[in-house]
Amino acid sequence: MIRSRIIGFERALPPVTVTNDDLAKMVETSDEWISSRTGIRKRHLVSDQNTSDLCIIAAEKLLEKAGWDSLSVDLIILGTVSPDYTTPSTACLVQNALGCKNAFCFDIAAACSGFIYSLSVADKFIKNGGVKRAIVLGGETLSKITDWSDRSTCVLFGDGAGGVLLEAAEEGGILYEDIHSDGSKAMALTAGYRANKSPFYKAEPKNDEFIDMNGREVFTFATRKVPESIKKVLEESKTSMDDIKYVVLHQANTRINEVIARKLKAPHEKFYTNIDRIGNTSGASVPIALAEMNEEGLLHKGDKILISGFGGGLTWATMLIEL
Ligand code: ACO
Repeated sequence: MIRSRIIGFERALPPVTVTNDDLAKMVETSDEWISSRTGIRKRHLVSDQNTSDLCIIAAEKLLEKAGWDSLSVDLIILGTVSPDYTTPSTACLVQNALGCKNAFCFDIAAACSGFIYSLSVADKFIKNGGVKRAIVLGGETLSKITDWSDRSTCVLFGDGAGGVLLEAAEEGGILYEDIHSDGSKAMALTAGYRANKSPFYKAEPKNDEFIDMNGREVFTFATRKVPESIKKVLEESKTSMDDIKYVVLHQANTRINEVIARKLKAPHEKFYTNIDRIGNTSGASVPIALAEMNEEGLLHKGDKILISGFGGGLTWATMLIEL
């Protein structure tokens, strides 16, 4: 059976960092409120870049470190809910910048689960035999869909991108996955509604371009569904938590991730966290965390890790990977 093996991890963060104290000068909040409720102390925000710019930097590093010829890439998938354009896809912009002329390219909109949804789709193309090499990215510039006067959301998010290379292999790679959506809770987390400005449009125009969230509902959803999903992956793959080196959860909120760890009765040290420095970067958070773990020397060939994303849609997805 063909497997999809991950052979590189990279990230790109914008150079500007914004602390909680910086935000406290803009809206009525404090470092104490933000850090105690979310674990976030600072975040990177773009000053002149878009989602494609960050993704291009991450993808260039991936190709360079792996020594892949850009023409050898068959597929580029990019998870984002803050693309540069509706069309072209951000993945096509990355393709052009990298000269990956032989790749077919598209974006996936699954919010904070977007990177794992993208990995899942790339994995199927590889398993079907049509694709040998893929670039899978998660990138966001959430700052452009954030209402900077809304203290309940503007303190949460950051900008960034991360990604991996996937290659057809004989063993290891993506071993098992569990993926879900629940559109009945779609309105718990929304962003980017586009008003119809056509002269023929007669309904009341709705203006809802910024992130809007029912924080409690999202908290309840994540702390219920993510442990269920991780348990299912472990049970069905006949893997024990003892076999897992790290669990890399979407970095939404430290308190969510602490509840998930408690429900799984798993040691705290298995859960990588960087939300204090990066904030919530939605679809970029898992690949950014993986790239940082790799830089810190935490990831080794043969290690089994779990990755899990959850967010807008609502969507959630867990994957068991052997490095
Ligand atoms: N600074 C100070 N006060 C604030 C701030 C802020 N930044 N934001 C909200 N408040 C106030 C509210 O106005 C409210 O005041 P009031 O009681 O006078 O009306 C009070 O704090 C409590 O507001 P809640 O929204 O109920 O705050 P809560 O304690 O629930 O914490 C939070 C909000 C941290 C977002 C919480 O709901 C949560 O952890 N939700 C999980 C969802 C999440 O983290 N989402 C991230 C994005 S989605 C994703 O990635 C999956």
